[in-house]
Amino acid sequence: MRWQMGLSDANRAKLREFKDCFCPYTPVCRVLNDLESLYQSSEIGGDQLSMLLRGDTGTGKSAIIHHFCNIKNGINLESIPVLLSRVPSKLTVEDMTRQLLSDLGVFGSSTHRAKNAQSDAHLTNRLLDALKVKNTKMIIINEFQELIEFKGARDRQAIGNRLKLISEEAAVPIVLVGMPWIDEILNDSQWASRLATRTHTLQYFSLSKRIREYFEFLEAIETYVPCEIETSIIDFEISIALFAASCGEMRQLKAILTEAIKLCLISGEPFSKQALSHSFANLYAGIENPFDMPKEKIKVREVEMHSRYIRGDSTHRAAIEPRRLSDFMSLTQILSKK
Ligand SMILES: Nc1ncnc2c1ncn2[C@@H]1O[C@H](COP(=O)(O)OP(=O)(O)O)[C@@H](O)[C@H]1O
Ligand SMILES: [Mg+2]
Repeated sequence: MRWQMGLSDANRAKLREFKDCFCPYTPVCRVLNDLESLYQSSEIGGDQLSMLLRGDTGTGKSAIIHHFCNIKNGINLESIPVLLSRVPSKLTVEDMTRQLLSDLGVFGSSTHRAKNAQSDAHLTNRLLDALKVKNTKMIIINEFQELIEFKGARDRQAIGNRLKLISEEAAVPIVLVGMPWIDEILNDSQWASRLATRTHTLQYFSLSKRIREYFEFLEAIETYVPCEIETSIIDFEISIALFAASCGEMRQLKAILTEAIKLCLISGEPFSKQALSHSFANLYAGIENPFDMPKEKIKVREVEMHSRYIRGDSTHRAAIEPRRLSDFMSLTQILSKK
């Protein structure tokens, strides 16, 4: 084994750029278009609807909303057209309001709590004023499942109600983003009517169900590979090996590509099947390497069922049931599966 030189600054920047790349493919465009139309309706004013964006971990929820925020917000902090916030660590109505204030960049909203005990109504008014001053047109709350999982039913309801009130008073739509079980919020009839037409689900890639989507993504991400390309990832055999290596999970897929690109940038060699094979060996030592197999031998697994939240009761603790993978399938099996 050779000792590997590190990356030069220029190459490190290239790698970083690849890591941060954002590829709009069909399901992502659908979400972006809907975010855009929600945003436009907010500019028109009046009654506002909301949107739910759910998806298992690593399906690209955060990437989409960060992309949308970057487009809308620019670098000018005087105005925050899209406010990106999250559920506070302490789940009370006041802390939710404080969290929004602090994400708006309003000073002193999350600190000095004890000293200046502000009334809840006062905090809410401050938030509504700040939303106006910052010209906010949309509020996005990420990791919304943390509220759904919270067991204090009364506080949960109160926070949900507060968000509705803020959305109404400020006439801004709210986008709730999180794990698949955030749709429990639809049990609340008022939220259900607000969210009715705008519920999006992001999924893992699937060869048996949505093969075109997978290739669309590969084509898009290949344009960001910052070195010469010897083997295209759209090459059928490579694409299948890449699927086998990642089980169709965007996060794993990108990690494998990133490692392969890193190896290429260090060695100065073009992006190739061999680089992918090395990358896989580095990341998953000891596991059979799909990049070293002929495609007839490759066995693929897909995510068959997303993870689920099981609410606890007097006899069971609440639990998250992890996502479930299918059995190993050969290419022929997977492509004939409907
Ligand atoms: N549309 C996309 N184009 C390129 N990379 C993406 C895209 N969506 C997600 N990723 C990458 O996949 C990984 C997981 O995405 P992330 O948005 O964090 O998922 P989630 O928030 O759903 O858990 C991240 O490394 C992210 O950069
Ligand atoms: Mg996320």
